[in-house]
Amino acid sequence: MQLTDTEKAMRDGEGGEAVAAAMDLLIRYGNALGAERLVETDNVAGAFNASTPSVRKIAENGMAEVFSKLNLDSDKTVEIPQMAARTCQLITGIDDQNWALQGADPQMVQMQRDSEAFVGKRGVNLMATCTPYQVGNVPTFGEHCAWMESSAVIYCNGALGGRTNVEGKESTGAAALTGRIPYWGYHLTENRYGNRHIRVDVPVRSMLDWGLLGYFTGEMVEENIPVLEGDLAGVDLVKLKHFGAAAASSGGVEMYHIPGHTPEARIADEAFGTSRAEDFHVYDAAARKKMYDTLQSAEDRKVDFIMLGCPHNSIEQVGRIAHLLDGKRLHPDVALWVHTPRAIRTVAERSGYVARIEAAGGKVMSDTCPAISRRLPEGVRVIATDSAKQAHYLPAIAKVQGWFGSLEACIEAGLTGTWKGDF
Ligand code: F3S
Repeated sequence: MQLTDTEKAMRDGEGGEAVAAAMDLLIRYGNALGAERLVETDNVAGAFNASTPSVRKIAENGMAEVFSKLNLDSDKTVEIPQMAARTCQLITGIDDQNWALQGADPQMVQMQRDSEAFVGKRGVNLMATCTPYQVGNVPTFGEHCAWMESSAVIYCNGALGGRTNVEGKESTGAAALTGRIPYWGYHLTENRYGNRHIRVDVPVRSMLDWGLLGYFTGEMVEENIPVLEGDLAGVDLVKLKHFGAAAASSGGVEMYHIPGHTPEARIADEAFGTSRAEDFHVYDAAARKKMYDTLQSAEDRKVDFIMLGCPHNSIEQVGRIAHLLDGKRLHPDVALWVHTPRAIRTVAERSGYVARIEAAGGKVMSDTCPAISRRLPEGVRVIATDSAKQAHYLPAIAKVQGWFGSLEACIEAGLTGTWKGDF
């Protein structure tokens, strides 16, 4: 891989041991990928904190060792300097304010706090969400980024026109310290063109519709790049958040085009560019119903947990939940958790939404989600969620039964304790 003089100097230790370790990692990683060079990045979203039991042993030796081992793949513990690139922390394992409700171990809470103090001091912005684009990190068109988290990556590429591959803990750690990432995959224009075509023959309007279309898209195209056209309306960034998370769950989609709506294609020809559709799929009423049925893993209609906010909810979504719960009370056997970034929670508090949700018996959580934390209310057997991604993962992760449906169906289940669904 070709290096600039600045990159060679970093590799040779001019920026200190940590930067040299980071550059060594990027060179090994880039060579394995066949990248010809690195590209500058000033936008890194990674996982830098320590919040899992497996890290406890390493953390006993200090947070520099945690960063060295987990974020730089270095056996030697090196001193960690200030981040070179604008860097933010993605979702974590523990809600710093509601950890007792999660049943988290106080020692783990302290470990997470210590690690956040360590990386915060070095310039990591502790956004603690899978949706950094909702709380201040919005990549500009064409901006080269180094992001982890599948739902964030597809949003960055598809909805915003930023450029990132799905990075890992190590590569984001190295990118943060060097401001570089291998130039391959979705950083290259020729790899961003569509190669699958989906024709939408059934109206797609609501959040439920966008989640189902996303799940269908992932199932059909797997890791390819779909171009979607047809009866699509009401496209907005919150619906694209929902759509992308679903497509990345059922199929691993990292990039898509909706001509006329997403930034890299005004018309289908632009979406396909120098590529062409190798496969053609039709999304119709039967496909929609099939996706809805596929996402149900429950049989028992007695629900005891409602999970809302995957990916983390926008302020409008939290407001809508408050509205639907207004003046009502959850069924005594049901817990309801709403997940949103902490910055949005602050706005929701100020707007009165948190008080209204909590008056109904719900809880507004931040920093984490049940799939990441693997923590649910005690004794949960049957969940309901409005997120295709959570319905896809949580039943297997937490050994629970899962219902999937609209927000309205989930709220109704929360109030009655019984799942009725949407169809
Ligand atoms: Fe975010 Fe957790 Fe869903 S990381 S996308 S809320 S599974």
